[in-house]
Amino acid sequence: MRFLLVSVFSLPLVSALLLGVAGLNTLFDRADITSDVCSAVNGMLAVTNPWNPSTTIVMGSINACLCISTLPSFIATNSVAISASALVGKAEATSALTKMINTSTGHKTCHYPPHSVPACQPGNACGFTCKDGGQTACGVISRNAKSWECIDTQNDLESCGGCIIPLHSQLSSPEGEDCTAIPGVSDVSCIRGGCVVHRCRPGYDINSTGSSCVYVEEKDPVILAAQYGLEHIPL
Ligand SMILES: *[C@@H]1O[C@H](CO)[C@@H](O)[C@H](O)[C@H]1NC(C)=O
Ligand SMILES: *[C@@H]1O[C@H](CO)[C@@H](O)[C@H](O)[C@H]1NC(C)=O
Repeated sequence: MRFLLVSVFSLPLVSALLLGVAGLNTLFDRADITSDVCSAVNGMLAVTNPWNPSTTIVMGSINACLCISTLPSFIATNSVAISASALVGKAEATSALTKMINTSTGHKTCHYPPHSVPACQPGNACGFTCKDGGQTACGVISRNAKSWECIDTQNDLESCGGCIIPLHSQLSSPEGEDCTAIPGVSDVSCIRGGCVVHRCRPGYDINSTGSSCVYVEEKDPVILAAQYGLEHIPL
């Protein structure tokens, strides 16, 4: 009897919890930020006085690197922001902080790669962290500048096993391999952080560990054609 009761009550509870988690995930994915305004903010947070709207109340000083999209978590954790929110409401507090960001000197409009979360850092207002544990922030060479992306180096063909341009040590050598740059390769994947060669161009053989292509003179089509031509030179 007791077992039955527990099941009756726990099943809906478990599914409600699961639904809640799934709902959160969906929200989180949908909220994948592509651009934001961020700044190192250093000033007094003032909000409209609810009892005398023509005046303001100074809540205290804010000295933090802030992005508009991450204000909800700031408002939930910073004591000055918490007091402001308690006094005038979350919306009004958010709007006051947004204004501080927008009007601070050195505020920047930032653009973020997929799988990233804005993470304003002093001296780097447009900094970000990679969302999923398996993603790594790597430098990539785009059309005319170096930029940063979140890359799954376990599966990324061009940053396989690690970044080609590491984020933290710009002078250090590549940590991973660009599988597409293996000499003589024609079909390759990145599997669990290692390049796996499936096929090489004519004139190359896959080496015994399947990680590179080895030039084989006897199979070089240019040399073969020359030999073929020679053999058929009429005497
Ligand atoms: C702050 O700037 C952003 C981007 O320029 C803009 O969308 C937003 O409306 C501004 N908000 C305030 C309160 O100034
Ligand atoms: C295959 O090539 C890779 C990359 O050059 C090398 O590290 C590996 O030792 C080679 N394997 C053999 C068996 O030669």
